[in-house]
Amino acid sequence: MNIAKEAKLTLSRLDVDSFLSGVKTPEKNAFRQRLESQFETLFALYLELYGHRYDFHFHLQTLVANLAAGYKARSASLKRKDKQRLQQPNWYRQENMLGMACYVDLFAGDLQKLQQRIPYLQQLGITYLHLMPLYLSPEGDSDGGYAVSDYRTVSPNLGSNQDLKNLADALSKAGISLVLDFVFNHTSDEHEWAKQAQQGNEEYQQYYYLFEDRSLPDAYEQNLREIFPQVRRGNFTWNEAAGKWVWTTFNSFQWDLNYSNPAVFNAITEEMLYLANMGCEALRLDALAFIWKQLGTNCENQPKAHSLIQAFNACLQVVAPSVVFKSEAIVHPDEVNKYIAPQECQLSYNPLLMALLWNSLATRKTRLLTQSMRKSFAINPQCAWVNYVRCHDDIGWTFDDAVAGQLGINGHDHRYFLNQFYVDRFEGSFAKGVAFQENPSNGDCRVCGSLASLAGLEKALASGDDAAINTAIDRILLLHSVILSIGGVPLLYSGDELGLLNDYSYEQDDTKVHDARWVHRIAVTEEDIANANNAGTVSNRIAQGLQHMIQIRQSNPVFGESNTQILDTGNQHIFAYARQGQGKGELLALVNFSEHEQTVMLNNLELDWVTQGTDLLTRTKPQVQSGQLRLSPLQVLWLARHSV
Ligand code: GLC
Ligand code: GLC
Repeated sequence: MNIAKEAKLTLSRLDVDSFLSGVKTPEKNAFRQRLESQFETLFALYLELYGHRYDFHFHLQTLVANLAAGYKARSASLKRKDKQRLQQPNWYRQENMLGMACYVDLFAGDLQKLQQRIPYLQQLGITYLHLMPLYLSPEGDSDGGYAVSDYRTVSPNLGSNQDLKNLADALSKAGISLVLDFVFNHTSDEHEWAKQAQQGNEEYQQYYYLFEDRSLPDAYEQNLREIFPQVRRGNFTWNEAAGKWVWTTFNSFQWDLNYSNPAVFNAITEEMLYLANMGCEALRLDALAFIWKQLGTNCENQPKAHSLIQAFNACLQVVAPSVVFKSEAIVHPDEVNKYIAPQECQLSYNPLLMALLWNSLATRKTRLLTQSMRKSFAINPQCAWVNYVRCHDDIGWTFDDAVAGQLGINGHDHRYFLNQFYVDRFEGSFAKGVAFQENPSNGDCRVCGSLASLAGLEKALASGDDAAINTAIDRILLLHSVILSIGGVPLLYSGDELGLLNDYSYEQDDTKVHDARWVHRIAVTEEDIANANNAGTVSNRIAQGLQHMIQIRQSNPVFGESNTQILDTGNQHIFAYARQGQGKGELLALVNFSEHEQTVMLNNLELDWVTQGTDLLTRTKPQVQSGQLRLSPLQVLWLARHSV
């Protein structure tokens, strides 16, 4: 079959004009043009996913009608933004980019109050704001909002849809891109579709994976992992109302959507376009690794998961091309990278860098970090990493066991060590974290805790030891220095810029006590912010140190679209990378993960300009003696060839 020819023929048979009635001619043409350029891709993917169905054409036609409806609903100002962004496709790779992720209620109270905090964000230099899910969700435990009952209604405790629109406008005026969650692997059991399914409506029962008895669930279960084994075993939940087993990868109230049904693809596309039309500029694809199920596999990272995301992306390119996708794949590093492509996810969290920064902090060694980044850091130049140190989730030790093996590190044992270290069961550890979802069957475990507590600040403050406090501050700044300079969008987690410590109050809340991730979901009060403005406080030192690095990043193009090369320094305590971009100067970053002074042989770096470089952080020349460059404990050097 000649796909190009059949796609053309199919498109010519669709009465696109009738879907666009009332739209002005120039806009109609813009839509048609984009549809024509994406249609072959979309057609091929849809055919691969649903071509075996007798009703294939009906669903395809419905999808195109949905795209036209989404386009009609898109505001004039967002359409202008689309045009603009098509002219500057690499906007997310610029040096001015700086992200923050926050919960609306914890950061500000509600959407209106958040709008009042825009000056604070601007002062920090934020250009990208990810608001944790703010949609209607079940009372009590809603997995922090990741159980969505209605994608089109803002949770009443946060405000109204109009508040969200106002906020999106205000952010846009302030030069801050709004990022929203696209929670499309599952809905809550209170979503209208799930309610219909529970009432026996067969059409909606096919929106989910429901089973009469245990035979298929048991067959699938052979190969599935458990995400929250401490809350509930297995991946299926018995639903009394429907009298069926339901596929629930995460919590029992989060029902996995059935994407083998094209009606689900189409319905979710409508929801996606609704979110795009609210004015966001990136959608975070939550739990995207899980969206396609295939018996006999672990049902993660299936080839058709990629086809689905590419199909969603093609739809977005037609209706809202200024919006990009961010992948949230917390899986094996090789699988993480497969989601990153201009036609799939333009942005991706970098869980490998995140986990290995923490690894290097614990071990004071950088070999695993260096080898792993050499293997996995390079991605398509039209895409960008979202580099982070902490987020709202736990830390999972997602490195490649094969890379570790080459260095003589046993992955299983090393993960055990890291868990012990960070939950303070290892003598001499500086960290104060909380164990998360220890699996009684296989001993797996993950770690929760705020950046400051994991980096040693909580213990240091408790002991009143000034040297330990200084060291903890150095660690916090060191971690941030890497995400700010290695290439990609640095993403701060709200509260970390102030060095906030673990909040144990969740232990007193019935709806939270079983989920230790709440220990690092911390309210940011006016007092916290004021405290950071008081010269000399710990929080002030962290905030100032961070500000300083942010200002350097944002005023120097080498931190933008340059290439990154991971270097081997020959000193196992030092992580190093060089960055270079056409006409943007050069940067050499050296990061000492040890609490002792370290030296690097200049010869190992194979860069001829190092001695002439200037450290952007201190505006001094590097200390070089007999061909060796010296770094003090936990020091970071940002050597630039052209000082700015
Ligand atoms: C994502 C979220 C996490 C949530 C899960 C289920 O991984 O980051 O917080 O529990 O998806 O939606
Ligand atoms: C697992 C999932 C990830 C999710 C996390 C929540 O790691 O892969 O998507 O965010 O669990 O704890």
